[in-house]
Amino acid sequence: MASRTSPFDLSTCARPNILKLQPYRCARDDYKDDGTNILLDANENAYGPGLALNEQGALQESTVTGTSTGSSKPEIDLLGLNRYPDPHQVELKKLFCKLRNTHTHTQKVLGPENLFCGVGSDEAIDALLRCFCAPGKDKILTCPPTYGMYGVSAQVNDIEIVKVPLDVDNGFQLQPEKINETLAADPSIKMVYICSPGNPTASLIKKSDIQKVLEHPTWNGVVIVDEAYIDFAPEGSSLAEWVNDWPNLVVMQTLSKAFGLAGIRLGVAFTSPPIATLLNSLKAPYNISSPTSALATAALSPTNTAVMRKYRDQIIAQRERLVQELPKIPGVGRFLGGQEANFLLVELLDKPATEGGKASNVTALATYEAMAEKRGVVVRFRGKEYGCEGCLRITVGTEQEVTRFLQELRGVLQAILAGEDV
Ligand SMILES: Cc1ncc(COP(=O)(O)O)c(C=O)c1O
Repeated sequence: MASRTSPFDLSTCARPNILKLQPYRCARDDYKDDGTNILLDANENAYGPGLALNEQGALQESTVTGTSTGSSKPEIDLLGLNRYPDPHQVELKKLFCKLRNTHTHTQKVLGPENLFCGVGSDEAIDALLRCFCAPGKDKILTCPPTYGMYGVSAQVNDIEIVKVPLDVDNGFQLQPEKINETLAADPSIKMVYICSPGNPTASLIKKSDIQKVLEHPTWNGVVIVDEAYIDFAPEGSSLAEWVNDWPNLVVMQTLSKAFGLAGIRLGVAFTSPPIATLLNSLKAPYNISSPTSALATAALSPTNTAVMRKYRDQIIAQRERLVQELPKIPGVGRFLGGQEANFLLVELLDKPATEGGKASNVTALATYEAMAEKRGVVVRFRGKEYGCEGCLRITVGTEQEVTRFLQELRGVLQAILAGEDV
């Protein structure tokens, strides 16, 4: 498909100070380290990392306090930690492209020039705000209920938030016509953050609705689709490669969820090369640490993505089990939203559904607190979020965790609805 014409103009949409940025260059951008050079350019410690390492480069056993590191040869090059990491991460970016070049949404091919790597997708959320929104002047549009960091990051950057809620009566889908009207009326809105699958809704947003916003006839702004949970949705759902068809689309992903690597902090934004260039220019040069880069690169190998898919399938099986079993517990109401993430948004009621129970924040909050304080099971109370009256957000755990959760929830709800002590 040919690139569509668009009112988007990067030269007037991005902040002028960012457009003028010259990315930080290090001497190694000019003189590649081939392993033979003496590196006296970056004020590193040439003697090595301040770690007691044995000859194999592993931490000496006596210095290891945790149990998981051991003395076996580490995957990570501990001996190289005295050197700054690669600022560009081209190999890692190539692997992300390989993963997402599915030719489902376009025949065009993603390359490393389409990518920004960040310290989690939280860094991408913030980098985009700093790239496009002038503090105290510009705005973003969000669609509640949604992920809290869009609001936090906007507040930190002194950016106002305009809200067009998701359609509560339609499975928490987008309201593209309302969004488009709002964008037409206020050109100071520079970005729309769409979470798909949504947090806390677990609903995959319809591609056709996102397209309606992208096809806005006059708006000069950027559409961000946050796909943190995309690998729990049906195969082919990711719109990452679609950034090649739209000059103003950004698709964010992370290794924190399906890939199970929240601890390494690695997120990416796929977008058009000009936007990726701006994001890469404004980031701190060495934002991705070498251990993170090594682990992320390993995670995207065929052997390791097979492990990710195996765990993902187990999570989906437990999600289906929760979908079957939760409604059998008296006091549990409907699932609001969808089933396309590794969590479910479930209503709790003031009485069992058979007795005409209604969604109740009193029940949900009491259940949330009792589960955490008395039963050692922590879920998330979401009843204060738009359209989520009486809701808990429940992350899908292991088979044993789900068994325990179901058992404790049944006991806690029974006691709460009977007005007894938990
Ligand atoms: C929708 C959504 N986006 C982004 C993130 C942040 O991900 P990361 O760990 O990559 O910063 C989360 C984390 O919960 C999330 O729910």
